[in-house]
Amino acid sequence: MTETNFQEEWLDIRYPFDTAARNPKVHAQFEDHFSGYDQLRLWDIGSGTGNNFRYWFTKLAMPQEWRFIELNEDLGRRSLEKVNGYIASTASNHFTVEWKNESFLELSFGKGENSKPHAILANAVFDLLTPSMFTAFAEHLINHNIPLLSTINFEGMEFVDGTYQDKYYVNCYIQHMNRIQDYGRTLGSDCNAFAKSFYEKRGIKHIFGQSNWQIKETDSALLLATLNYMSEAVPEMLPNDQEKHHFKDWLADKRRQVHEKKVRLIVYHYDWLVCP
Ligand SMILES: C[S@@+](CC[C@H](N)C(=O)[O-])C[C@H]1O[C@@H](n2cnc3c(N)ncnc32)[C@H](O)[C@@H]1O
Repeated sequence: MTETNFQEEWLDIRYPFDTAARNPKVHAQFEDHFSGYDQLRLWDIGSGTGNNFRYWFTKLAMPQEWRFIELNEDLGRRSLEKVNGYIASTASNHFTVEWKNESFLELSFGKGENSKPHAILANAVFDLLTPSMFTAFAEHLINHNIPLLSTINFEGMEFVDGTYQDKYYVNCYIQHMNRIQDYGRTLGSDCNAFAKSFYEKRGIKHIFGQSNWQIKETDSALLLATLNYMSEAVPEMLPNDQEKHHFKDWLADKRRQVHEKKVRLIVYHYDWLVCP
């Protein structure tokens, strides 16, 4: 099964960066596509703590019926609590939200038009899948003519003015995302290229646009969280204790540079809208 071990704190830290990075062209097309609808049924797969809802619910003018599909029970439960807070802070009551504690890889749609969503949303999800998981899921949506808005799909990252060592450890980190796990090799940073070629081959209408995080020297929480992820992933990719030792030194140095507000990072992503 796919990775579900994510922390609420990490999803909260990344939310403002995701929001700033979302690709305007892709998002405008999504809004145009549904502008004539008097209500929308949206299913958010891998919904975490409900960040997609948090982004969209006041931007879409029509009443919305949301379904969160999230396997991690703690995140699913928290998402409903958080959503209540977001809704309470607006004057409108045009929203319903339910959470299904199930895998989006086993998504099924009933017979009537009302039993399938108008669109599926996915934020920061597809890098977690293997090629065959993605293909089966994407085929399923095409077969049911369901549009997909997939945002903040990981493509790579680099430290601004990075040293050779910076590049080397970032590369190890990216390779770790593509490593073979017990359910197969995950797409990681290949998820965008893989999806684009999948839709091109099938002649399915799609639009892709960049949605990069620009992380400044003062964004210490996100920089430190990224270094924490690297501290767990990179040693697994290193061949011996001596190299692991060098990495520890690099990490300590980078953390010190973050505290001194000397580190900038760009994380590359793509957003895509697919309309079968
Ligand atoms: C990187 S997080 C993104 C969460 C949320 N979309 C956001 O942007 O804050 C990926 C989410 O997908 C969930 N997930 C992974 N595999 C899943 C599956 N097969 N079915 C349902 N949820 C899954 C994880 O538990 C996690 O909450």
